[in-house]
Amino acid sequence: MKIAVVGTGYVGLVTGTCFAETGNYVSCIDIDAKKIESLRKGKITIYEPGLEVLFERNRKEGRLTFTTDLVEGIKDAEVIFLALPTPPGEDGSADLKYIIGVAENLGKVLDHYAVIVDKSTVPVGTAEKVSAKIAENAKVDYDVVSNPEFLREGVAVDDFMKPDRVVIGTKSDRAKAIMERLYAPLVRQGNPVIFMDERSAEMTKYAANSFLAMKITFMNEIANLCELAGADVDNVRKGIGTDSRIGKRFLFPGIGYGGSCFPKDVQALGKTAKEYGYDFKILKSVMFVNDRQKTKLIPQLKAHFGGDLKGKTIAIWGLAFKPHTDDIREAPALYNIKALKRAGAKVVVFDPEAVANVRKEIGKKVKYAASQYEAVQGADALMIMTEWPEFRTPDFDKLSSALKNKVIFDGRNLYELKDMAKLGYDYYSIGRDT
Ligand code: UGA
Repeated sequence: MKIAVVGTGYVGLVTGTCFAETGNYVSCIDIDAKKIESLRKGKITIYEPGLEVLFERNRKEGRLTFTTDLVEGIKDAEVIFLALPTPPGEDGSADLKYIIGVAENLGKVLDHYAVIVDKSTVPVGTAEKVSAKIAENAKVDYDVVSNPEFLREGVAVDDFMKPDRVVIGTKSDRAKAIMERLYAPLVRQGNPVIFMDERSAEMTKYAANSFLAMKITFMNEIANLCELAGADVDNVRKGIGTDSRIGKRFLFPGIGYGGSCFPKDVQALGKTAKEYGYDFKILKSVMFVNDRQKTKLIPQLKAHFGGDLKGKTIAIWGLAFKPHTDDIREAPALYNIKALKRAGAKVVVFDPEAVANVRKEIGKKVKYAASQYEAVQGADALMIMTEWPEFRTPDFDKLSSALKNKVIFDGRNLYELKDMAKLGYDYYSIGRDT
């Protein structure tokens, strides 16, 4: 099948590469000429484990091509994916200007039937808006379908190639048959392709992300309560997660969710509710609790040092909003850095992938260490903000001799309490101590 992907950001590039991997001819289109030039030369523009190998092979074999020209890119394409940014506007709603802009151009240049697919996370009613925009100029038949993406950064290739389910919103049988054929290689194990109307598909994406954000937030509240009530959230997590109605995943408490999706989507769903005159109370609490949770360790850190962090050096392990990504959008680490600087502390940071992005964002406000052990050299305390695997089993001899004080504030519960006690650490974590 010949397909086109408009927008070569994170979702676009993963979508294009993975569909090329299943034998399709994919043309990736972007208005950013510099990006297209790099991609043509084989320089991948995002960090995503496992993607580069697929990208390189399919590019070399001619199944994955790049262009800035919409007309050239959509030539003969049976399916045209729109994977464009939907940044939050000032009021929290998703800004559709990029998608509507491309829809307008598509209407003018489309010269054959195609299925146009909203892949971006877009509010309920967007497929109808896109369709209406194309209709203003269209000379041919087309269908607009909602096909939200559920991939997670860091494991995107796996999520894409082996989806739990594929959700497709369309009322057109013609579009349905084409989408079924396109996705068939990815659901051979029997995972469902769930067809529904466009509005329900759009709502499904927001409901899924908001539900997961709520699940994490609920556990963060339980963790906070465990600390007060003398319970251990790790036990509680196992105790409830084994109930198949609850499920084991996304129950890990910490210093809040971040990233480009959960915060934006919870906010946008709240906005949609408001537009329809519905007071979605849980969403408001989720946002409030998550914001509070991000810097939850700071008061404990201050208290540990007698209320004053002036002149103290705090090392931070982990800057990315989660492991296996260089993404720092809404990363709890950034909020903690801000709070530490405000309190007069010096901050030394280390992250295996995200340093370049942090440097761009906050420059010389912190010191950048070349390794996790260099970061802790002479530091008064260590804070752990991201659960990179290499932080899970550090060389504790090295760590203990590098740190000025044996004290760790762990926002991701990486270590066992009894091990830390044996090693002589003052160890603060989430929902387990005090
Ligand atoms: C999320 C969803 O998981 C994807 O299904 C969705 O496609 C994507 O958003 C999107 O809308 O594009 P992502 O933001 O990449 O994916 O990351 P997650 O792995 O979901 O993690 C989100 C945040 O939740 C991270 O900050 C993570 O640390 C936190 N988290 C996750 C917890 O605090 N506890 C958990 O148990 C799980």
